[in-house]
Amino acid sequence: MFADGLMKGQKILVTGGGTGLGKSMSEAFSALGAEVVIWGRRGAVLDETAREIGTATGGKVTAMAVDIRNGGAIDEAMQAIFDAGPLTGLVNNAAGNFISPTEDLSPNAFNAIASIVAAGTFNTTVAAGKRWIEAGLKGNILSIVTTWVWTGGPFTVPSAMSKAGVAVMTQSLAQEWGPKGIRANAIAPGPFPTKGAWERLMPAPLAAKTGAGTSADSIPLRRMGEHSELTNLAVFLMAPGCEYLTGAVIPLDGGQWLASGGNFHSLSALDKDDWGTIKGAIQATNAKDRETRTA
Ligand code: HXC
Repeated sequence: MFADGLMKGQKILVTGGGTGLGKSMSEAFSALGAEVVIWGRRGAVLDETAREIGTATGGKVTAMAVDIRNGGAIDEAMQAIFDAGPLTGLVNNAAGNFISPTEDLSPNAFNAIASIVAAGTFNTTVAAGKRWIEAGLKGNILSIVTTWVWTGGPFTVPSAMSKAGVAVMTQSLAQEWGPKGIRANAIAPGPFPTKGAWERLMPAPLAAKTGAGTSADSIPLRRMGEHSELTNLAVFLMAPGCEYLTGAVIPLDGGQWLASGGNFHSLSALDKDDWGTIKGAIQATNAKDRETRTA
């Protein structure tokens, strides 16, 4: 779809770049000639991804273990990146989420998600933006949100609230930073299965009971998204050639949100026992991930 070397000369930071959609986007940018920096919480996973992409594409991929819940760590790591040469683009991809009845969420549960998706995305964006502005450089921001920014997100309220905030940040900065040469756009993906999201949004006990995460009946195009379809749109937004596009939040969901909301309203059918089983499965996933974090 794209010409070889399309992204040569670009240097792009992808948060949450070690796995899932972040890894796929990093690989696509690298394959087209961009230098890529990936951030994530698990150093060993990041190192492995950087090695894997670098070997596949021959490009430069740098892994940095940065937890975007930590504002100080963000600023320090961003300074180290710019010291080696400024970024041309930032992809805000890192996220956290799990399904739960909202009345069961503690302040800590809200913070576990909002501190990544809302505060972490904001702090990373400002850390890059202020350096672009100070140096008089152009910049390009892409944030990954969800279609819940239009429909609301029952059973995922902290994520939906935070993602809606990121969508509004996108529209706000397109106006505020546009005169400084900085663009901001967002993609709102529908179902693109990844391990991190699916284990928390469609944990095995839920899939077994309701078929959630396995059926494409609610999607007009009758299938899940392919990672390459998301990376193609990300490349289009980050590559030279669409410099007049800013402030857009683009759905990429096979038409799902228009047809069905694309959210978890159907989980109202679950009872307390179901939620207990689901919570146990999600927390087992979180505990396993925590063991492999270095930052
Ligand atoms: C109720 C829960 C819970 C559950 C955790 N908590 N799971 N409450 N139901 N199922 C509560 C805990 O009791 C605790 O509060 C607090 O949340 C933090 O829990 P931890 O287990 O310590 O969580 P933590 O290790 O911080 O991990 C949470 C996380 C994790 C950071 C959000 O899930 C994570 O690392 N996720 C990264 C990957 C990911 O989630 N990807 C999905 C992105 S999908 P108390 O009060 O007890 O201390 C996405 C949108 C997709 O963003 C859109 C698709 C269409």
